[in-house]
Amino acid sequence: MSKCEFIKEFLCELSELNDLTNKVIYSPLYQKNIILILDDNQIYAWLDACPHYPQATPLSWKAGQYLSHDKKFIQCFAHGALFNFKTGLCEQGPCLGKKLSEIPLEIVSGQIFCLRTL
Ligand code: FES
Repeated sequence: MSKCEFIKEFLCELSELNDLTNKVIYSPLYQKNIILILDDNQIYAWLDACPHYPQATPLSWKAGQYLSHDKKFIQCFAHGALFNFKTGLCEQGPCLGKKLSEIPLEIVSGQIFCLRTL
């Protein structure tokens, strides 16, 4: 049986997150931005890569701003796709049913790390 190994990378302190605002951190491990959203003591983490096209363009509609005005969705600036920030699923727009890539996290002593399989 093979053992699954991970590399982990520090993203930020848990105390840096505020409810229903996104924080964006560039991850050298993933070579893209990671979007963190805190809601009701749960952290959601998604890769900043729209699944509409294979080249997965960044989602931000203003610099560092990902949430829709009603704060229910991550919004892609390019063609307006709306992704449920809890499930990552596109619920409206040209990539309906496609999903953002979820980033596995580990929280240790108030510090948030992203994980990646080797
Ligand atoms: S690139 Fe995101 S909706 Fe088209």
